[in-house]
Amino acid sequence: MDVYEAVKSRRAVRRFVDRDVPREVLERVLLAASWAPSGSNIQPWNSYVLTGGPLAELKRRAGKRVAAGDPWDDREYEMYPAAMKSPYRERRSVFGHERYSSLGIADGDWEASQRAASANWDCFGAPAALFCYIDRELGLPQWADVGMYLQTVMLLLRGEGLQSCTQMAWSVYRKTVAEILSPPEGLILFCGMSIGYEDVTEPYIHTGRAPLNETVTFVDTASHRSAQSERENALPGI
Ligand SMILES: Cc1cc2nc3c(=O)[nH]c(=O)nc-3n(C[C@H](O)[C@H](O)[C@H](O)COP(=O)(O)O)c2cc1C
Repeated sequence: MDVYEAVKSRRAVRRFVDRDVPREVLERVLLAASWAPSGSNIQPWNSYVLTGGPLAELKRRAGKRVAAGDPWDDREYEMYPAAMKSPYRERRSVFGHERYSSLGIADGDWEASQRAASANWDCFGAPAALFCYIDRELGLPQWADVGMYLQTVMLLLRGEGLQSCTQMAWSVYRKTVAEILSPPEGLILFCGMSIGYEDVTEPYIHTGRAPLNETVTFVDTASHRSAQSERENALPGI
């Protein structure tokens, strides 16, 4: 698959069919993903891949906690700032509309959207899930390295005809995840990632993106010169 096609066809898939992902495919993807870049090549990702009985047990335990109204585990990191400023706030609300209206849920119907979001705890029906941890002593640049690694995993999955959904949601039930995985003490769970073959019957709205000029600034000779002359023109006259 062409790289552009892999990037454009990857999306957060939230319904998978009941078809196992062969272990050798997962190994091939994760071996290739280990070539993702990281500052000083420290490779700060720690991945656990869950399938079969252990994944079923995690889903069962998480489902039980949700059904019991169990409060979330204390946070090891904040998913978002408490007050999201513009333009992130607006983009987030567009996403919420896209995500839930595709399922026939009206804007502001909190209960229905929570019911739909609870599919997180079933990994959206996926037969495989990856849980990615990072050492708590590492800093922001290493968290960025982990992001690059995860995107590499997701693109390679596309090459195998698979889809995925990254899930920070699992960080709120991190203790239940830890019961199954027993990670070493010093690690923080960044996110889970559901992996499987997409159920193409599930309705969705393809999430949009901000126009390029909102997120990218080209600085070339011409734009640099015109910015300079604007600055010079703005100088107070003598
Ligand atoms: C770090 C990260 C965490 C995410 N966590 C969740 C999650 O917990 N549950 C979920 O349904 N989607 C989650 N998503 C998916 C995003 O909502 C999705 O990537 C975004 O809306 C863009 O849509 P697209 O991936 O379909 O292009 C997460 C994505 C990322 C990158």
